[in-house]
Amino acid sequence: MQKLSIHGGVPLSGEVRVAGAKNAALPILAAALLTAEPVRLTNVPELNDVTTMIGLLERMGARARRSPHGVELDAGAVTDPFAPYDLVKTMRASILALGPLTARFGEARVSLPGGCAIGERPVDLHIKGLAAMGAEIAIEAGYIHAKARRLKGARIFMDSVTVTGTENLMMAASLADGETVLENAAREPEVVDLARCLIAMGARIRGHGTDVISIEGVERLRGVEHAVMPDRIEAGTFLAAAAATRGTVTLTQAPVEALDAVLEKLREAGASIDVDRDSIRLRMGARPRSVSLRTAPYPGFPTDMQAQFIALNTVAEGTAFVTETIFENRFMHVQELRRLGARIEIEGNTALVHGAEKLAGATVMATDLRASASLVIAALMAEGETVIERIYHLDRGYERIESRLGQLGARIARLS
Ligand code: EPU
Repeated sequence: MQKLSIHGGVPLSGEVRVAGAKNAALPILAAALLTAEPVRLTNVPELNDVTTMIGLLERMGARARRSPHGVELDAGAVTDPFAPYDLVKTMRASILALGPLTARFGEARVSLPGGCAIGERPVDLHIKGLAAMGAEIAIEAGYIHAKARRLKGARIFMDSVTVTGTENLMMAASLADGETVLENAAREPEVVDLARCLIAMGARIRGHGTDVISIEGVERLRGVEHAVMPDRIEAGTFLAAAAATRGTVTLTQAPVEALDAVLEKLREAGASIDVDRDSIRLRMGARPRSVSLRTAPYPGFPTDMQAQFIALNTVAEGTAFVTETIFENRFMHVQELRRLGARIEIEGNTALVHGAEKLAGATVMATDLRASASLVIAALMAEGETVIERIYHLDRGYERIESRLGQLGARIARLS
């Protein structure tokens, strides 16, 4: 199993280009199921989760041609609207096939995702929404079986904000008969990117980016060319790493507007940040100050950046209170960070992080994608060598991480 070896203590310095957004690419790949015409995507990140989603579409009968950072999909010949357990268990985002399959083929069989390292993560709101649109839903032998001759528009209130739930229902509603209104919809930039792609395919969507999205269903959608938005979480992770190592880093092709909450907290930590149209330069000259935060749906502080900010706080001056409100078990990185000398206490859904003068290298284990990103940041600051095990978690969401951090001066190597 592959590992990462990092010798810490080098301030990151240089320029890095932000890759396409994983969490925009995954729903947009699923949207290719909504049309029989070719869908050409660019700025697609080279990640394991993207490969899994393409593999899922191919298994259903879609054809895929990949090129560097691009893919052309043709779902004209899909014969089997089925997402098996062996794929869904490796990637929960496979649930994004449920809405498009039901809408276009009148039927879908998608495995129920099981538990997950960061929380229970039910999909009841996806299912309730489809049922409200007239789908007959049965849960049989661990599978969601949805059937509908044609979905009907409906008014759907989601009692918690769900990103993939909003995306699934927005895709399904695009081909439904009549108008669907999604209330308490997710406002995440990735939902907006998906909406833009759907609109270019002929969908009639209004209100994306707000918490009420209305979709007037159409008979069919056409092919499209779409460039996936840049990844705000990858961008935020590089910035947090730059701040933690007291470095100077410029991000190019950055999703500047989607990063407000994160940039605000980095400034509070003492970083000086210059923002241009699509580039961000961060400079951190001194020890960071601790920053307290509370995760929330967009435009609040993203849960996908919580672990990286705990890492930053481990060496900051003062004590930070970091509260996780989205997932009930997203502190698995804390015990690993403690192995590097971090002083963190957990009280309910809040981590109290007492800044230490320094961390020291050790062997640690990644437990999920963002937890592994926090370990990388901590390792970049720690004295001596840190070895991170189970980095397949990291490879799900960060493209060629060792060569890109290496380019910024990090002493990092992949061990097999
Ligand atoms: N929830 C329900 N019922 C549902 C759906 C969600 O109760 O039917 C709850 C969840 O249990 C959770 C909250 O609602 O407490 C929010 O979950 P959400 O559905 O928004 O999460 P998701 O759509 O499964 C996406 C991202 C995650 C990111 C979250 C929150 C993708 C593919 N995944 O997940 O990304 O953390 O939104 O922003 O878009 C990551 O990239 O590391 C990652 C985990």
